[in-house]
Amino acid sequence: MIKGDFPVELFSGRRTPFYFYDTALLRSTLEEVQRQLSGRPDWRVHYAVKANANPALLQIIAEAGLGADCVSGGEIRAALDAGFAPESIVFAGVGKRDDEIRLGLQAGIGRFNVESTAEMCVIEELAAEMDTVALISIRVNPDVGAHTHANITTGLAENKFGIHHSQLEDAIRLAMELPHLEFCGLHFHIGSQILEMSDFVSLCNRVNDCVGQMEQMGIRPRDINVGGGLGIEYKHPNHLPVADFPAYFDVFKRHLRGLGCPVHFELGRSIVAPCGTLFSRVLYVKDGLYKQFAILDASMTELLRPALYHAYHRIENITSEGDVARYDVVGPVCESSDVFARGVDLNECRRGDLIAIRSAGAYGESMASQYNCRPLPESLVY
Ligand code: LLP
Repeated sequence: MIKGDFPVELFSGRRTPFYFYDTALLRSTLEEVQRQLSGRPDWRVHYAVKANANPALLQIIAEAGLGADCVSGGEIRAALDAGFAPESIVFAGVGKRDDEIRLGLQAGIGRFNVESTAEMCVIEELAAEMDTVALISIRVNPDVGAHTHANITTGLAENKFGIHHSQLEDAIRLAMELPHLEFCGLHFHIGSQILEMSDFVSLCNRVNDCVGQMEQMGIRPRDINVGGGLGIEYKHPNHLPVADFPAYFDVFKRHLRGLGCPVHFELGRSIVAPCGTLFSRVLYVKDGLYKQFAILDASMTELLRPALYHAYHRIENITSEGDVARYDVVGPVCESSDVFARGVDLNECRRGDLIAIRSAGAYGESMASQYNCRPLPESLVY
């Protein structure tokens, strides 16, 4: 079985489970992103902090020159602490609290991506109180579907996100009337783990329409943010460790009409997922009536994605070269859904074997919980 190459000598005596981050892979991913953008000085990527807010990773990403995409006051603080310039921070979310809006205003963040007219009015009120002006874009609900898990598609009319494109004109007019708001542009995001490039083509078509609508109103956007969502190859972390950025950016190069303004992206998963691995040890191997269970010391509290979305993560037994056998790989938490994978082939598992759960750098550590009074996972940034 082909396995990832890890500095296992560093792991001896280390308490499992823990996240291992390969910063060389993160850096080469960031270089690939910058290479794709090299001919487009006015295109910019904001890293979606929700994917992973580990301070060491944030710092590397900030140093590479990316902006930050935040969805809470906590994420804004984490981004500022890691060295992201305030003006490179964009702030989205359907339910921004007053204190979070004030924090954004105080810090001088680059953009509030506003998701309703009700929110617009609150930002106006708070900006007036603070005698400042908020830079805002309108998050458009583009009513564009994405071929991905139903729980992570965001761009449909039935989703809670954004202002429906048919209501855009009224929203723009309101934004322009409010004196403490500066209306700058539009924001879109259709979902996550998208591998069908045609979904992004549909997004481009909607963006083109909406910018056309603005032009008819006599307004030129200062910039357009097309969100994130590029998926990774969870099945092939050893062969395809870097997401297909050329194919992704090519869609926008070919299908966005000349907008005459900068284009912003918000990528999370594609930047950090491949560089993270959750390491765990086998606690017990149990012969069930119908199947064999490998019971790990990691659980859904460290990596929720399989339990929540039936998400696939490649699993490797790093210690063993034994014959391959079939296992249900499960955690110790008292939930039947605490399963990493059913019926997977692994080199024979024994108590104490080190198990790698791959491509866990995005929405892994950041979604960890303390359910069952378990501690939050530690990390090793290498
Ligand atoms: N921009 C906005 C407004 C978003 O809501 C998201 C992700 C992103 C950008 C970044 O998307 P990415 O490039 O990472 O696909 N927990 C789920 C994924 C939730 C995504 C939420 N929004 C999972 O584990 O698959």
